Amino acid sequence: MKRIGLLVLAVLLAFSVASVSANGAKEGGQIVIGANIYSFADNFMNGVMKPEFERYATTLGAKLEMVDSEGQQAKLNDQIDVFITKKVSVLAINLVDPAAAKAVIAKAKAAGIPLILFNKEPTEAGAMASYDKVWYVGTNSAESGIIQGQMMVSDWKANPKWDLNGDGVVQYVLLKGEPGHPDAEARTKESVKAFVDAGIKVQQLALEADPNWSTQHGNDKMAAWLTSSFGKSIELVICNNDGMAFGAINALKAAGVKLPLYGVDALDQALTHIADGEMNGTVLNDGVNQARATLDLAVRAAMGKPVTEGTTWKLSTDGTKAVRVAYLPVTPKNYQDFRKK
Ligand code: GAL
Ligand code: CA
Repeated sequence: MKRIGLLVLAVLLAFSVASVSANGAKEGGQIVIGANIYSFADNFMNGVMKPEFERYATTLGAKLEMVDSEGQQAKLNDQIDVFITKKVSVLAINLVDPAAAKAVIAKAKAAGIPLILFNKEPTEAGAMASYDKVWYVGTNSAESGIIQGQMMVSDWKANPKWDLNGDGVVQYVLLKGEPGHPDAEARTKESVKAFVDAGIKVQQLALEADPNWSTQHGNDKMAAWLTSSFGKSIELVICNNDGMAFGAINALKAAGVKLPLYGVDALDQALTHIADGEMNGTVLNDGVNQARATLDLAVRAAMGKPVTEGTTWKLSTDGTKAVRVAYLPVTPKNYQDFRKK
């Protein structure tokens, strides 16, 4: 019985491997995906996207070669050269610098290798149009800021005591991610704009950006703000991601201060902080589905097929050649639904 089961499994695996053979690769040749993460030190990229890349590549029968670009675009450019020399079937690239897309795309184009960019959307105009075999998988960055903003506005309205000095103005501090990163820029703008749109006045007491979106940064900045001249005036802590929020929570705890605080990503630890009342909300950044979409597009591109064929992914119709995975609000009311099953 066991042996028959194994035989069936072997046949299925052989079939799935064959079904993802690359165009031009020798008969039965496995698709090889040359991929990177901009930095393995990033808790969302490393903790959510990377494991799903590894798991899902196996289920697709593709070979994933994943490297750490250590936050250096020059390093990533070299890694791409190595992948090209090795003749990988397809590239799945997480840019370090969103303004470096054109050079990356030019490399793939010169080598005739299809390219899926993911998580960090190119910011240079015309980049995506410069090659017919490049696609993008990510999100609609603005959506995360809008959702975070809406959560904060409705909680602010429901909690008049949050206006500590009773002036009707939200005195906030903001921990921003990488400057120039579409997610960081849009989250910063949209989260605050939600108050303005709701007719609530805001006053920014401080804003500090971190290219690494790190917990250390969140901790250090929050600690400094709390002991600054405006420390006692802070009424709200807005964080572009959960990683920085965790640092801010540490600093707040160390200072014995409790403030409303919001993040983005919905990491497991954030759900725990919500359960413990240390975080008021976050936004699901669906890295699992972003990883799956990236690989689904990659294997199809490698086979020369339409990239979304036979999948549920939809390419945007706005000329960006993008699959955009939806964000979702995560609150004290619904966070249980986001616990890993
Ligand atoms: C964002 C995510 C951040 C960080 C960043 C890296 O989508 O929310 O936590 O991982 O990507 O590019
Ligand atoms: Ca106030």
